[in-house]
Amino acid sequence: MQVHVFENAKQVGQAAATLFAAQLLRKPDSVLGLATGSSPIDCYQQLIQWHKAGILDFSKCVSYNLDEYCNLPVEHECSYHAFMNAQLFDHINMKETHVPNGNAEDLQAECARYDAAIQAAGGIDMQLLGIGRNGHIGFNEPSDHFVFGTQIVNLTESTIQANRRFFESEKDVPRQAISLGIGGIMAAKEIVLIAMGEDKAQAIRDTVYGEVTPKVQASILRNHPHVTILVDKAAASLL
Ligand code: F6R
Repeated sequence: MQVHVFENAKQVGQAAATLFAAQLLRKPDSVLGLATGSSPIDCYQQLIQWHKAGILDFSKCVSYNLDEYCNLPVEHECSYHAFMNAQLFDHINMKETHVPNGNAEDLQAECARYDAAIQAAGGIDMQLLGIGRNGHIGFNEPSDHFVFGTQIVNLTESTIQANRRFFESEKDVPRQAISLGIGGIMAAKEIVLIAMGEDKAQAIRDTVYGEVTPKVQASILRNHPHVTILVDKAAASLL
């Protein structure tokens, strides 16, 4: 596990974009694992800028997102489908993009389908991760075990509160999500985790120095051979 500390959040995003750009240049038909939330926005903006400048071509590249809310129409501005379109997909030429279907009639079947699709695509080459204040990755919330496959998750109160800022009122925040499991994340060949801000400092400390425990789901990353953690000074303040 390598940890790099940057002066500010923007630099974290640019450093993450640099790793993804290098991945794409090395392997134009990469399978990328992508995340939503505030953390990846600077990274996506940098990738868009490089694409528009003619430096990055995504035309052979395929992406799979980590998660999606359940029972939120994809057209809803807070759905992760809508987020990805607005923040990245509408501005680049990705060959194929995939986001789990949180509105599937049979959500368990959707979980299995999603895992099978990633496997059929050859597995994820590089996975981008944010981290929750409670150490969640994807929506794998603190628990007494790690879940291997894509799963339906009941969001914790801390996650509902953290996501509240995007919705009109707290009651509008979905209570369930579909998320790649820990096995799916750990199967990625390389993982890039980014975190900004003081409210992530404890989760980053627990991930880097704490025991490997499902109470801090990100701590499992210590068992992965190729993890790069990019943080700003605030998120690194407890290291
Ligand atoms: C999003 C995801 C989540 C977020 C995490 C941090 O696809 O999987 O694990 O990465 O909740 O969210 P932000 O970046 O909004 O602080």
